Amino acid sequence: MPRSIIIDTDPGIDDAVAILLALASPQLEVLGLTVVAGNLALAPLVGNALAVAELAGRADLPVYAGCPRPMGEVQQNAAAAHGEGGLGDLIPPPASRAPHAAHAVTYLIETLRGAAPGGITLCALGPLTNIAVALIMAPEVAPAIAELVIMGGGSRGNVTPAAEFNLHADPVAASLVFAAGVPITLVPLDVTETVKSTPERVAAIRRVGTRCALAVADLLSPGPPGDKGAPVRPAMAMHDPCVIAYVLAPELFAGAAANVTIEIAGDFTRGMSVIDWRGRTARPANARVLQTVDAAGIYQLLAERVANLP
Ligand code: BDR
Ligand code: CA
Repeated sequence: MPRSIIIDTDPGIDDAVAILLALASPQLEVLGLTVVAGNLALAPLVGNALAVAELAGRADLPVYAGCPRPMGEVQQNAAAAHGEGGLGDLIPPPASRAPHAAHAVTYLIETLRGAAPGGITLCALGPLTNIAVALIMAPEVAPAIAELVIMGGGSRGNVTPAAEFNLHADPVAASLVFAAGVPITLVPLDVTETVKSTPERVAAIRRVGTRCALAVADLLSPGPPGDKGAPVRPAMAMHDPCVIAYVLAPELFAGAAANVTIEIAGDFTRGMSVIDWRGRTARPANARVLQTVDAAGIYQLLAERVANLP
């Protein structure tokens, strides 16, 4: 039986690749996409989620608009990394439909409420606002979550020296989620930044030749040269696709249990993931933190799976 997942996302170049990888995988039943503000404002990201689903031939896949801002202060978006439209140079045909009328948080709560214990895996590819609000409004739905796989954090930040984008964008939400007692797997930058799009890897995906394979190859290619000759957007690390790849093929990753807390405020440390590898705090482990990945295996999986899409 396929594993039921909900993808909470802010698409985003690497989110789009992650969504396509999930939709291309028969072991997964993607129940819906819930969208959260992050890489850009909410409205264009909802449009991107709808467009990516249609690119995959899945105009039937429900898309829900979620929280338009984080719980605390609004930080800068990631348009510099993902382009003004959020999908780099890829401009998919605009979606032919509107998002579902229900709010993403309502959808998350109702779907989890109707599921068997451990019935649903949540894949979190953006700031954790939607998931935190759902767990605040309906903590009783937590047992329905088989696993919450989060892209975020790491020993070195990519927004500040200490913080990774998704956790930095809403550290209050992240802190609540890590304290909620759900089984978490954290996929940090230490892992995702080793899964880089080399020209050979992108070429192998382009050779698949389908419209989705060409879209993935375009998404993973560096942007055009800027004033100084270097690409405006260097080749993306496959942050968010690692979440889906982990659900599909956990044997490609290694990790260990640890306590993770999120720094809510701090002149230099807002949004930092504090991982107690040595058990200094005596706080119980609340996450499995991935440490290594077989990067070649991830690209092979992506090239194989994307061939299943139109
Ligand atoms: C994360 O930040 C976003 O810009 C990406 O989509 C990814 O989820 C990486 O730090
Ligand atoms: Ca993302």
